[in-house]
Amino acid sequence: MDTKKKIVVAITGASGSVYAKLLLQQLQHLSEQIAEVAVVMSDNAKEVWRFELDNEEYNDLPYKIYGKMDFMAPFASGSARFDTMVIVPCSMGTLGRIASGISDDLITRAADVMLKERRRLILVARDTPLNLIHIRNMATVTEAGAIICPAIPSFYSKPKTIEDLAMTVVNRVIDLIGLDNASYRWSESAG
Ligand SMILES: Cc1cc2nc3c(=O)[nH]c(=O)nc-3n(C[C@H](O)[C@H](O)[C@H](O)COP(=O)(O)O)c2cc1C
Repeated sequence: MDTKKKIVVAITGASGSVYAKLLLQQLQHLSEQIAEVAVVMSDNAKEVWRFELDNEEYNDLPYKIYGKMDFMAPFASGSARFDTMVIVPCSMGTLGRIASGISDDLITRAADVMLKERRRLILVARDTPLNLIHIRNMATVTEAGAIICPAIPSFYSKPKTIEDLAMTVVNRVIDLIGLDNASYRWSESAG
């Protein structure tokens, strides 16, 4: 079986379109390790991207973008054997629908598939502060096998720009996907 990864990147309408942009850019640099990247966006993801990044560059990605109601997309079924799905950023609404098993669009259906097939589902959840419903939903999806990788950047690599800061989250996501990636490693670059 091919060891190159098949990855779904879903983008939802939480703040932080820059995380999606940078992840998709970085996956292009790691293309030798990847068999396929499939992209799906919610309506609000497009709105937030336009608002926060002042462009529509999601139309120019070198990856196939599936319609949010396209249940004929390969990753709507476990038989297509995608390895990993990343939802970046992941809104509290999408988190709640996944936690409740509501598979009413391609994003939530694909997430449901990843969980039932025991494959890797990474939610780059973003909101602050969190209410008890958010926290319980995070616990529910974690118990079902998903990984909550919150959009919480770190500062110990001394990022200089907003993109450097956002990359501290994206690099953790790439580690979780299981791709080899040169990035800051705590204690390795000291001295
Ligand atoms: C500019 C903007 C920023 C938003 N930021 C967040 C956020 O950080 N987290 C969140 O859960 N929802 C946020 N929302 C609200 C979601 O877009 C909204 O709940 C939407 O229904 C989510 O749908 P989706 O998960 O299908 O994209 C934001 C909306 C806008 C317009």
